[in-house]
Formats: sequence, structure tokens, C-alpha cells
Amino acid sequence: MKQVFKNGIDQHKIVIGTWRFKQRDTFTNVYDAIKSGFRHIDCATAYRNEREVGRAIHTCIKEGIVNREDLWITSKLWNDSHGEDNVILNLKQSLSHLGLTYLDSYLINWPVLFRKGVFMPAQGSDFIAPDQIPLKETWKGMEAAKGAGLTRTIGVSNFNIARLEEIMEDAYYKPEINQIEVHPYLKQEKLVDYCQKNKIKVTSLCSLGSYDRPRMVKAIDEPAVLYDDEIVRISNELNISTAQLIIAWLNNRGICPIIKSTNPIHMKEDVEAVNIKLSDDVMAQINAIDREFRYICSDYFVIPGSPYTAEYFFEQ
Ligand SMILES: NC(=O)c1ccc[n+]([C@@H]2O[C@H](COP(=O)([O-])OP(=O)(O)OC[C@H]3O[C@@H](n4cnc5c(N)ncnc54)[C@H](OP(=O)(O)O)[C@@H]3O)[C@@H](O)[C@H]2O)c1
Repeated sequence: MKQVFKNGIDQHKIVIGTWRFKQRDTFTNVYDAIKSGFRHIDCATAYRNEREVGRAIHTCIKEGIVNREDLWITSKLWNDSHGEDNVILNLKQSLSHLGLTYLDSYLINWPVLFRKGVFMPAQGSDFIAPDQIPLKETWKGMEAAKGAGLTRTIGVSNFNIARLEEIMEDAYYKPEINQIEVHPYLKQEKLVDYCQKNKIKVTSLCSLGSYDRPRMVKAIDEPAVLYDDEIVRISNELNISTAQLIIAWLNNRGICPIIKSTNPIHMKEDVEAVNIKLSDDVMAQINAIDREFRYICSDYFVIPGSPYTAEYFFEQ
């Protein structure tokens, strides 16, 4: 029998992202984030810094800044570990690195499959075709992880409606979270509506334009949403920062932004933004900025010989 999805999350309106936290700085970055008020930490196997994140969490607990129960810890399954039998194994590895007994969320990082040990594909043979291990198989492993109490919630990341429907068709537990790119240049109205109607919490990546991404994954002429003329104008009028305006716009849409910051002043500013309410008029002005622009595209997965297409990831 299918279980009706019940979403126990999300008290937290903002998440600290740990992608691009350098290993040597991760302890300080996460410690600063928790001290600044972040209570939800977004991790992933692919970020290769979960040990350092774990050390910061335990130091904060030891110092009495937080209890484990105050924190919401997310991690993600990397693309070379799809398949029912791999999920619990990989989740347990993240738990071991983080020094935790359970996660609050575990997500499938991407609906793309790489061969075991491939971090980023360089040729067609690095991929596994989607019909070889259907996403439903991996989802069964996710359900087993939740059933075993290793994670409180399960979800996905970078899934469009077609991919969500693929796993929801036979699901015992529905996905509870979808982590996707949303910012004023990519409103994602249709996908966000779909998720909200299906009680799937949306957490957003690249919310501030992911400005400090490495050059190899960044177009030279990409627009900077944080410095957009309209965003600057409206935030000046409201006497808040551009980052705060974008965070408030996301929160006002029921979306939980994941923000990467290494700067404690920015961190405090970002956490304070969760209390900002925007008028319908301001929301409409920001909604009008959309230009369907993606900072994270599918280029790394749509290389010669790849069985994947851009539509597979992003067509709505
Ligand atoms: N699931 C996925 O596939 C996926 C993909 C991408 C990202 N993510 C997650 O999303 C997180 C967010 O990363 P992102 O790449 O999306 O970056 P982002 O949060 O859009 O942008 C990060 C940039 O914003 C700046 N920033 C933060 N607060 C600011 C403020 N108040 N004023 C001015 N600048 C500010 C940071 O600089 P400072 O450091 O100087 O503050 C940094 O340069 C990642 O760490 C990761 O956890 C997930």
C-alpha cells in the first residue's frame, strides 16, 4: 500500500551550503555558520569535506552552542553510486565521515548515472544509461534507508517533473525534498508549483548566483543576479542587502535557500533575512526579472557518447 506523504520538515528557512568549502577551511566555515545561526547544513559525498563538517558540528555540540536535535543535516548520494544496494552503503559512509548516527535528509544528487569510481565523466563509457539502472531502483534503496532509520527524510536534487514522476509512480515513500536551482533569473514556477502541490519541499541552489564557482564551470559572460540593476534598486529602497532581498523572495515563495558563504558578516546578514516579509508588489517586481537563465547546466553530462540529453534534465 502506498503511504501518504507527510512532511515533517522544515523549521529552517535557510541552509548553509558546503560545496567549495576548502578542506582546510571547512571546520572554521561550518563553525562560523552555526555560530551565526544556521541550523541546516547541506553536505554531499561529492564535496569531499564531510569529515571536516562533522568535526565542526561536534565542536559546536561540545561547546553547548547547539544540540544534535537542533541541527538538520543533509547529505547526498553521488552519481557513481546509483542502484538499490549502494544507497545504504554510501549513506553509512557519509554518517561515518560526519560522525553521526542519522541524517535528517538524504538526497539523490542528480538523476544521472556514472560508472563506479567516476567523479566527472570524460567520455561516453563513463556513463550508465538510464534504462540500465532505472531511478526507481535507486529510490528503493532510499526508502530502505529511511525505513532503517538512517535518515529522517529522503529526497532528490536536480529532478524535473518527468524524473520525479518516474520515481513517484511506484514509491512507498514519496520524495520529501527537491533541491533545485532557483533565483530571480530562474523562477522555476512550474516545477516549484508541482513540488509544492505534491508536498515536496523545495530547497534552492545558486540562489545568489554562485558567483565564486570555479572558472571551468562558469561562463565568462554569465549575468550576476546579486548585482542585477533591479535587485540593487529594490534592495536600496527597502534598505536591505541584495542577498537579503533574494533570500526573502525565496522564503516568501516557501522555498528554502541554500547559501554558500565563508564570511561571518555575510552569514549573519543572510540568517537575518529570514524575518523579512515582502509585499505582493515587490514580489511581482522580482518575479518579472526572470530570464530562464541557468548557472548550472547539463554540459558536463551531455558530452559526446553520453546517453543523456539536456531535455532529460531540464525539460518541464
Ligand atoms: N545539489 C546540487 O547539485 C548543488 C549544486 C550547486 C550548489 N549546491 C548547494 O548549494 C550551496 C550554495 O552554493 P551555490 O554555488 O549555489 O552558491 P550561492 O549561495 O548562490 O553563492 C555563493 C556566493 O554568494 C556570496 N554571498 C553569500 N552571502 C552573501 C552576502 N550576504 N552578500 C554578498 N555575497 C554573499 C558568497 O561569498 P562569501 O563567501 O564571500 O560570502 C559566494 O561568493 C552549495 O554550497 C551546495 O551546498 C547544490
